[in-house]
Amino acid sequence: MIQFTVNDKAYSVDVAEDTPILWILREHLNLTGTKFGCGAAQCGACTVLLGNEAIRSCSTPISEANGKHITTIETTKDKEVKALQYAWVAEDVAQCGYCQPGQIMNAASLLKKNPHPNEAQIIDAMRGNICRCGTYNRIKSAIAIVAKG
Ligand code: FES
Ligand code: FES
Repeated sequence: MIQFTVNDKAYSVDVAEDTPILWILREHLNLTGTKFGCGAAQCGACTVLLGNEAIRSCSTPISEANGKHITTIETTKDKEVKALQYAWVAEDVAQCGYCQPGQIMNAASLLKKNPHPNEAQIIDAMRGNICRCGTYNRIKSAIAIVAKG
């Protein structure tokens, strides 16, 4: 049995230890805000926080979450995620929207480590999250709003 919390709620699952966290979130817990993109740790669509670290949930086994806290886009309490969601709306960031939960979770991890990143630091931190719709400039602007406080 693997025990962990997601968005402050406790869960335990009896699954193979190498089951990807993404599968548990979407199929077992019905938290479908986290998206499946490449399934190979290449696009960032599946990004969630494990502790304060952004991880690729498609390629991280649930065994790594044992005893830890996962935060997903469905959180109602995480202050960085909530601030980013408001900024995302203000900047009208999303196009198709598919990559955006992963973008926000990756940005939240950046802001937890560095609350006031400059433009170069934002670009560097967000480099691995792919957006097929090319919303990169709006993503950068939304993060900058939160970074400026
Ligand atoms: S779906 Fe996980 S990195 Fe692409
Ligand atoms: S908004 Fe469409 S993939 Fe990013």
